Amino acid sequence: MSPLYCSLVAVLCLLLASASPAAAASISVSAVQSPVVPTPEQFLRVHNEARAAVGVPPLSWNGTLQLDAMRYVGELRRDCNLRPLTAWGTAAVYGRNLFKAYGRHTGAEAAAFWADGRRWYDRDAGRCAAPPGQTCDAYTQVVWRATTQLGCSRRTCRNGVDTVAVCEYYPPGNYVGQRPY
Ligand SMILES: *[C@@H]1O[C@H](CO)[C@@H](O)[C@H](O)[C@H]1NC(C)=O
Repeated sequence: MSPLYCSLVAVLCLLLASASPAAAASISVSAVQSPVVPTPEQFLRVHNEARAAVGVPPLSWNGTLQLDAMRYVGELRRDCNLRPLTAWGTAAVYGRNLFKAYGRHTGAEAAAFWADGRRWYDRDAGRCAAPPGQTCDAYTQVVWRATTQLGCSRRTCRNGVDTVAVCEYYPPGNYVGQRPY
């Protein structure tokens, strides 16, 4: 299925410390990032809020995907660098969104950063109108209708300061020639 399959890994990286994902997000992050809301629930709620906004059924949490995301983010946090791990065993099996930002960020903020790509997605035309250097890929995976399950992990990088996060999706989305919803 590889020819039809693209953007499996949407690599998103905040290059500027001043570019706070929370500030950019129109999703109500504050409602879900309270310390009493467990991180998996934060990821799930922000995803399902973005999906509900376009009439797509909610995702459910999957521990198998979560374990893979934990292993993946455990690799990324070593050098805090968002290179896609191409030799990863599940690379062609699960959809995947990656996040890195300077400083400490919650799971809700990571998911809201991906979901904020909806600002560039032209729903009527069914295409992305993102400026150069940006994509809608993370957003379209978040709201991909055929995706039903989610598992994510958030870690502080080994530098003790910055944040990386990974969400995995099954079945994967972002098939070329298909609309997300
Ligand atoms: C979780 O995802 C894995 C991998 O796709 C799948 O094999 C498993 O059946 C799922 N678990 C549940 C409870 O749906």
